Amino acid sequence: MAESFWALGLMSGTSLDGVDAALIRTDGNDVFERGDSLTLPYNDAQRVRIRDSVYMRGDLAKIEQEVTLLHADAVKALLKKAGRKPKDVRVIGFHGQTIAHRPQEGITWQMGNGALLAEKTGIDVVCDFRRRDVAAGGQGAPLVPLYHAALVKHMELPVVVLNLGGSANITWVGRSENTGDDLLALDIMAFDTGPGNVLINEWALRHTGLDMDKDGALAFAGKADDAIVASYLSDPFFRQHPPKSLDRNYFTLDRVETLSKEDGSATLTAFTAASVEAAQHYFPAPARHWYVAGGGRHNPALMQAIAARLPHVKPADTLGWQGDALEAQAFAYLAVRSLKGLPLTLPTTTGGNRAVTGGAHYRA
Ligand SMILES: Nc1ncnc2c1ncn2[C@@H]1O[C@H](COP(=O)(O)OP(=O)(O)O)[C@@H](O)[C@H]1O
Ligand SMILES: [Mg+2]
Repeated sequence: MAESFWALGLMSGTSLDGVDAALIRTDGNDVFERGDSLTLPYNDAQRVRIRDSVYMRGDLAKIEQEVTLLHADAVKALLKKAGRKPKDVRVIGFHGQTIAHRPQEGITWQMGNGALLAEKTGIDVVCDFRRRDVAAGGQGAPLVPLYHAALVKHMELPVVVLNLGGSANITWVGRSENTGDDLLALDIMAFDTGPGNVLINEWALRHTGLDMDKDGALAFAGKADDAIVASYLSDPFFRQHPPKSLDRNYFTLDRVETLSKEDGSATLTAFTAASVEAAQHYFPAPARHWYVAGGGRHNPALMQAIAARLPHVKPADTLGWQGDALEAQAFAYLAVRSLKGLPLTLPTTTGGNRAVTGGAHYRA
């Protein structure tokens, strides 16, 4: 067995709900233990400033510093919760906040100051996970697939892991002829399926001032407009073969503008579910099991809309996974892989020209 380390992953996704932090013990191939995790929610004022940054407004340098310090707070809170000291953790995987993702132009940009985080925590930091993949012609997203594959590789395959974050992304894992314990011997396919929570959140914010359709209340009270769902689905994104990734602002609320707040939410929820369903057309073989992670699984209207189309889908928590911590765990895993110079992405997960490592390393 290769030497394993505790690593701490940090994720702030496009939903802008807060910083997720999680600990795992890994050698960069196998995951030996999953430790504590937590979410440090952004308050409303912070969320407004961070939302500005994803539209390239405001004092980006200042917001980056603020976001980094909030991540340092999340590290401290998690170490405290886990009863661990900085020296117990080999590395932090710091995703940062995506403020631009246009891989077709060779651009992806996650803000976050790795130097400041290393200084504040006393722990080595790996950040800037996506840029190398984009430089190698990849989409730079999704990055969680290798971690999903590490978790499911001993199960009955093919297995699909669906992450309902701001965008929704899927990992399909099957077994190739060349079986072995090495991750890279598996068949792994991954892509963004479409929006996850982001459209529903933006709609809820506009109509209720709250940053989500809490418990799907609006969507349950409304009726989906099938013609609008169909018009969203006619977007060329859905005819594009994977690998593919989605910019947070690619789909807009224009098509639902005239609907009531309830029908709008029901329509966006139905569209999100339908785009997940559409993803399976690209699978090399049907999946035996589907597991859902990410905050969207807390939205019962979205989960019911998905279950109506894909009845075998189950929350990842049924496997004993921490469904809210999976992405943060993935960045802990990827940080260890980065230290070892192992690939973070494959041509079949991001469309790059080869398996590439990635990440920038700041020593404590
Ligand atoms: N009780 C709930 N009702 C409806 N939606 C929820 C609920 N809890 C979480 N969510 C959704 O999950 C989102 C957070 O998901 P998350 O996986 O953290 O996304 P990201 O990776 O983009 O940060 C929230 O913004 C919200 O849309
Ligand atoms: Mg989040």
